[in-house]
Amino acid sequence: MITPNTIEQIKNRLDIIDVVGDFVKLKKRGSNYLGNCPFHNEKTPSFTVSPAKELYKCFGCGKSGNTITFVMEHEKLSYVDALRWLAARYNIEIEETEVSDKQKQQMQVADSLYVINKFAGTFFDDQLFNTEDGRAIALSYLKERGFREEIIKKFQIGYNPQQRDTLAKALLANQFNRELLPRTGLVTVRNETELVDNYRGRIIFPIHNNSGKIIGFGARVIGKADKAPKYINTPENELYVKSKLLYGSYFARMAIDKLDECLLVEGYTDVVSLHQAGVENVVASGGTSLTVDQLRLVKKYTNNLTIIYDGDSAGVKAALRGLDMALEEGLNVKLVLIPDNEDPDSYVNKVGTEAFQQFIKENKKDFIIFQLEVMLKDVGNDLNQKNILVNQIAETISRINKAEDFTKQQAYIKQCAALLKIDEGGLITLVNKIKRDKVAKEEKKQAPNDAIDQLNAEQFQTIETDNVGNITSNEEKHERNVLRILLEFGLKEYLETKTTIADYIFEELQGFPFENPELEKLLGLYKKLYEEGKEPDTKTFLYYEDNSIRELAISITLFPYELSANWDSLYEGKTITNADNSNQDATMSINYYKLKKLKKMFEENQSEMEKAPLEEQLQLIRIHKDLKDIEREITKRLGTVILK
Ligand code: CTP
Ligand code: MN
Repeated sequence: MITPNTIEQIKNRLDIIDVVGDFVKLKKRGSNYLGNCPFHNEKTPSFTVSPAKELYKCFGCGKSGNTITFVMEHEKLSYVDALRWLAARYNIEIEETEVSDKQKQQMQVADSLYVINKFAGTFFDDQLFNTEDGRAIALSYLKERGFREEIIKKFQIGYNPQQRDTLAKALLANQFNRELLPRTGLVTVRNETELVDNYRGRIIFPIHNNSGKIIGFGARVIGKADKAPKYINTPENELYVKSKLLYGSYFARMAIDKLDECLLVEGYTDVVSLHQAGVENVVASGGTSLTVDQLRLVKKYTNNLTIIYDGDSAGVKAALRGLDMALEEGLNVKLVLIPDNEDPDSYVNKVGTEAFQQFIKENKKDFIIFQLEVMLKDVGNDLNQKNILVNQIAETISRINKAEDFTKQQAYIKQCAALLKIDEGGLITLVNKIKRDKVAKEEKKQAPNDAIDQLNAEQFQTIETDNVGNITSNEEKHERNVLRILLEFGLKEYLETKTTIADYIFEELQGFPFENPELEKLLGLYKKLYEEGKEPDTKTFLYYEDNSIRELAISITLFPYELSANWDSLYEGKTITNADNSNQDATMSINYYKLKKLKKMFEENQSEMEKAPLEEQLQLIRIHKDLKDIEREITKRLGTVILK
């Protein structure tokens, strides 16, 4: 956590004109400044910045805020990361408190990896442009493929020489931590002590995070890959987490935002070539199936995802596997297949920008239809298989459930029936039956579940700010709420178990640990005092000697997240209002908290499922079922509390 002191310091140093001016060309107009809005497309400037008030407002799209929100919005950063960004810009050293040792260590490792990567990136650049071999072997290859110097420099593409340890030597000469170096994947240990280069004789594509720092590399052989793998990538480490990144996102984010569409391709070279051709809203997946995290990354900028793959790549199927999730995430997914064994890189080079864009526009295909076509090919003439497929498609279609999507659904039914060569009426009947079954199941679960779903939707998806303006995740909100109950009612009796509410909560929390280290710390402290018989309550912490604990306790009790107010309105008429809601509040808080955690476990399990080989799938499906059982228990429990 950044200390209040540092935040104060940052705020004092901020100059809104200076910061906004980094991104927007501003002209002085009276006491204000005026420019073209960076958040929407406009030709006449309506974006106004007031240095006196330290605010901006766009009279075109209505976006407004202060310097910090500008950085958050523009750079797509969290509140805390925006502060860090500003601190870095103004050379303010950040003071932090209350980071666990493990976290601290991880952050230190991450920091060191950044520094090493940065050094290596510059080294590779230099090798490419300023050495004889670099120019003769690597640069000439890149140019032969049509990459111009300008784009090579933009993406910081480089070259690792052929000799066994040119980079390793340079790294060691610069005093980088020998133990840490292999974690970057840049070098490996030979004969126990010797460090040698890992990407020898390869073209290097640095991979940037969303703020432009290098988190890893993809290293391509020059020419044909006969003996060695075509690409070697950075191993997973503190910075490089493949499932959470999309290559090129740093360079694409503005264009995606502006065009409200994200193009997804498979490879590094596809991204670079399309950029060179002026198509900048493009990122690459690296050929594996999409994960929830990657889809969310896209969703930060747009709801429209267009996948552009080459027709017979294995990647198509891999990508499709992740796409049911995309439907659930509410993304509109379209697909385009590039013909004739070309990929986007070779195709755009062959036909040129205009023809490429025209092709994309004309060949965008809806994902459901596409999926059906791919599966149909696999099914062939097997009637049994076809039967399964029909049911699958009906199930997918039945998920489009909103009233306004009725016509969309009808259109799908028509198209799918035609492709499957089955009777349209039959498919309608099947879809309706699936829907009816679902409704019946829902009804069995009884009314409260609708409310719970609704609450889920509301409570679990938005990011909100707390009363002091900090961004809090919903997860944190639930953790805070459980803590509040503990502080306020922990010592009261929990009637059902005939123990205290504190005992009940501790019991329930098993297997569902807190994530936020601060909150976790307060929880641990409470538990310790409680077990020592000290009978802790709110007051204990409001005057606690440790500054951060005190502030946390104050913010939790003075600014409670009004979950319970929400419940009251949701369950109006169903709740018994009695003078003391402590038992009910405790039950609600802990169970909603657990539901939230479960949701996350589902997601993690889901993304495991996408990656796991077939033989492990069964195990993961079992876990999925177990989680479902727990969820059912909890919703039942909430139902009885509400209706009691
Ligand atoms: N890939 C990888 N490891 C490999 C092969 C591929 O990580 N051994 C990933 C890379 O991210 C690569 C993407 O999958 O960019 C697509 O692979 P491919 O189509 O084979 O390569 P291209 O990106 O088209 O590269 P090039 O045009 O240079 O052949
Ligand atoms: Mn290619």
